[in-house]
Amino acid sequence: MAVIQNGTGPADDTVSVPMVNGADGQHDANGASAPVAQVRTDPLATFPAHGPYAQMVGWGYVTPRKVVTNNDLANIVDTSDEWIRQHTGIVSRHIVTDESETSATLGAQAGRQALDVAGVPPQKVGLVICATSTPTHVFPSTASQIQDDLGCINAGAYDLSAACSGFVYALAMARSAIVAGDAEYVLVVGAEVMSRFVDWTDRSTCILFGDGAGALLIAASDVKGGIGACELGSDGSGGDLLTLPAGGSARPATLETVSSGEHFIRMDGPAVFRFATRVMADATRSVLQKQGWTLDDLDLVIPHQANSRIIQNSVIKQLKIPPEKVFINIAEYGNTSTASIPIALCEALAENRISPGKNLVLVGFGGGLSWGALAVNWSVSQQDVSRHWWQGARQQAAYRAGAARSMWRRVERRFASRRDRS
Ligand code: UT7
Repeated sequence: MAVIQNGTGPADDTVSVPMVNGADGQHDANGASAPVAQVRTDPLATFPAHGPYAQMVGWGYVTPRKVVTNNDLANIVDTSDEWIRQHTGIVSRHIVTDESETSATLGAQAGRQALDVAGVPPQKVGLVICATSTPTHVFPSTASQIQDDLGCINAGAYDLSAACSGFVYALAMARSAIVAGDAEYVLVVGAEVMSRFVDWTDRSTCILFGDGAGALLIAASDVKGGIGACELGSDGSGGDLLTLPAGGSARPATLETVSSGEHFIRMDGPAVFRFATRVMADATRSVLQKQGWTLDDLDLVIPHQANSRIIQNSVIKQLKIPPEKVFINIAEYGNTSTASIPIALCEALAENRISPGKNLVLVGFGGGLSWGALAVNWSVSQQDVSRHWWQGARQQAAYRAGAARSMWRRVERRFASRRDRS
């Protein structure tokens, strides 16, 4: 077990996260050879010589309990299970049913899991970034609500809007904050309640989307690897291809915008499909090039889960990446926008398809138009993510203290405004 160290400070003896790669990336902490590195080029050679490095040390996801199948949808719009499976690969999606469930509540649950996996108390988090296309409000930010819910009392917080590419963008921002020394831990959340922005009478969009949230905790570490090269792109000329027309400053809510359904997702499906197929392949190729990795160096691609045909036609057919090196879980969840990549990453971990030394590419696209890809050299061993009982108790105590503090501040503010009025 290596200790995560702040690049600018002393080792933190309260937070131990296992790191398996040695400094040269070819040996583990005990000096034993890592078989992956022996047969390939050194995957760590193109990381900077000195840290801090941005390592993914905690992860978690949540989806609502309610499952809506294709057959359920066939009861409300003119579609069929067969059409949806053949055209998208989707079989079901999870949808919120309780009014109290929002992108903030889902995001906080996923974020808490990520902190628990890493054993990092919430007050150590320096920044919370929430990528979301369906924020709880225009403002306050969903990230601030998550920060408050988790008791990340020393964190800045902001929402990041880049549609379905948002999670990749947020990881790139987290890496920058870590490398700049601005934060020791950054909590990156992708959280969506797409079902509240879907027109349930429009068969071309309502079959696609689902709700959920995923989170990763990024830590400053002296251990080489983690988040490497990134490729971010945008082409605003295609903004109208995938849009939520009203509700912003261009078209604030009016009776007319509501009655004409302008607060629902509008999409030119085939045009987005063409764009996505091209850009997923291009972005993957380009990030591999930047990272100095070949296709052989790559162990797993975790693509945005929008349509299994897009994934097939882009990374699998165009780049000729073997299907077993591409993670697809769209059948169960549909397109959960910014949450799709972290949910897929968590499931890939659960299936042991990610382990120390593996080279990953995370790649997404979405409205904007936007796209993004990241290279990651994974370093944390799941087997060693075990905690003493007191560490779990300390985590719970930190959450309770955060909740009590938040409650107290609300009460205090109420008294202060009453006092001011009298
Ligand atoms: O995160 C980014 C979000 N967006 C995307 O990734 C979307 C990318 N686009 C797509 O995934 C696909 O374009 C769709 C799944 C949206 C549509 O599939 P498609 O193969 O491109 O179908 P299409 O829009 O070209 O429509 C073909 C036919 C049309 O009927 P006609 O005009 O040929 O008679 C549609 O009306 O399929 C019809 N259709 C449907 N039929 C049954 C469209 N949606 C449905 C449906 N069930 N749900």
